[in-house]
Amino acid sequence: MSHKKFNKNILCIGAGYVGGPTMAMIAAKCPQYNVTVADINSQKIMAWQTDNLPIYEPGLLEVVKKARGKNLFFSTDIEGNIKESDIIFVSVNTPTKTYGKGAGKTADLQFWEKTARDIVRVAESDKIIIEKSTLPVRTAEAMERILHGKNTGIHFDVISNPEFLAEGTAVSDLENPDRVLIGSRETERGRKAIREVVEIYANWVPRDRIITCDVWSAELSKLVANAFLAQRISSINSISALCERTEADIKKVAHAIGMDSRIGSKFLNASVGFGGSCFRKDILNLVYICEHYGLHEVAQYWENVVTINEYQEERFVQKMIHAMFNTIAQKRIALFGFAFKANTGDTRESPAIYVARKLVEERALVVITDPEALQNAEQDLKDVRQNIVFESDPFTAAQGAHAIAIMTEWDVYKTLDYKKIFEGMEKPAFLFDGRNILDHQEIYKIGFNVYPIGKPALTHF
Ligand SMILES: NC(=O)c1ccc[n+]([C@@H]2O[C@H](COP(=O)([O-])OP(=O)(O)OC[C@H]3O[C@@H](n4cnc5c(N)ncnc54)[C@H](O)[C@@H]3O)[C@@H](O)[C@H]2O)c1
Repeated sequence: MSHKKFNKNILCIGAGYVGGPTMAMIAAKCPQYNVTVADINSQKIMAWQTDNLPIYEPGLLEVVKKARGKNLFFSTDIEGNIKESDIIFVSVNTPTKTYGKGAGKTADLQFWEKTARDIVRVAESDKIIIEKSTLPVRTAEAMERILHGKNTGIHFDVISNPEFLAEGTAVSDLENPDRVLIGSRETERGRKAIREVVEIYANWVPRDRIITCDVWSAELSKLVANAFLAQRISSINSISALCERTEADIKKVAHAIGMDSRIGSKFLNASVGFGGSCFRKDILNLVYICEHYGLHEVAQYWENVVTINEYQEERFVQKMIHAMFNTIAQKRIALFGFAFKANTGDTRESPAIYVARKLVEERALVVITDPEALQNAEQDLKDVRQNIVFESDPFTAAQGAHAIAIMTEWDVYKTLDYKKIFEGMEKPAFLFDGRNILDHQEIYKIGFNVYPIGKPALTHF
């Protein structure tokens, strides 16, 4: 397909949580560019062309519809689109490696490297290659080596443009980002390439929010941003454990410290733990890099952020078992929410996976409900499916249950008729609020035994 009427052909390889929304926003904001998103997964590509998008993200369908069929296209023809493109974003997945050296820590770059080889094999003209995936610092160097290894005379400029969107708020994050970060080599060519990428975002992002730097700083900044965000969660969660022992209230502590402008009030909600495909993977990646450079103390420091998260998940399960008289065998337990956070159907690394598995191990009868994530939940737990019921209605899920555990902070769970739910439950009825979203006094007054995070439990015995 020739795209002569457009002044730039942009291709994105990888049509997932990052590639899809990012490219939809670029296309919607820049009608002068032709934007194609390509993926090896044909089912996903098909879904992007319907109103039943492959991911749930508030406001996304509207943005996609604005541009789809005009200057936003979805395709499985990766090679053909590489040939036609001037700029290629690469947003393939970079999961934690599960095999060989660095297993459980470093990023698995096989999908990444494959795209580099696809590009070099079929490209017939110079291109700007943009790392959109989150990658270990200095990956651009390896990318350059692969791209220029064949001496074809074609030149590729590798740019790092990490994505900072958060799932659940991806559309507003993309429309109004805190910053866009673009890193390049500090050469004449590098600077020219960076100007071209700045030009894309400048169509809707104020210039002072587009920051440019060297490629290594850009790559590293993404890992560090996620490490700091996760660290805040682990920090407040570690204190929640202390609160539960001392009758202090984590919400009051968070409020008090958050009013210090040096600390700030965001990201101080204690919970059952963080999830999502990125935090754990990116921290472990950082840990691996530190170890690689012999910075063992630094590695250990960051690894503890993950350790505290695992501790928090485990603590939650142990609290449930302990509260329910040290046995949950044959007890029906309803998990309210399975997504790793509200407003997404994504369940990758969700604490609910860990909790559900542990409850099944203890022979509980687990019922899972979630407004958007049931399909993914079934997939995540397919090996233990026979012990789990998936139920879209929270009232039915809680019917006959001994306990409810709130796993995701969905708005719908804040306003349910808990009196009605209580009536249908076994007694004594327990409620474990893994996200601290309910009015615990009110829930207690209904008759529940309530176990928040980082606050004293409210029990009737
Ligand atoms: N999900 C997030 O919130 C988020 C935010 C910022 C950055 N990131 C980073 O962005 C990257 C992508 O994350 P994601 O959540 O979009 O992943 P994803 O798994 O949702 O999407 C990746 C897509 O790439 C495709 N793919 C893999 N190899 C391919 C190949 N060789 N050719 C064509 N397509 C290929 C897969 O089929 C998949 O659809 C990761 O590095 C991640 O760390 C993610």
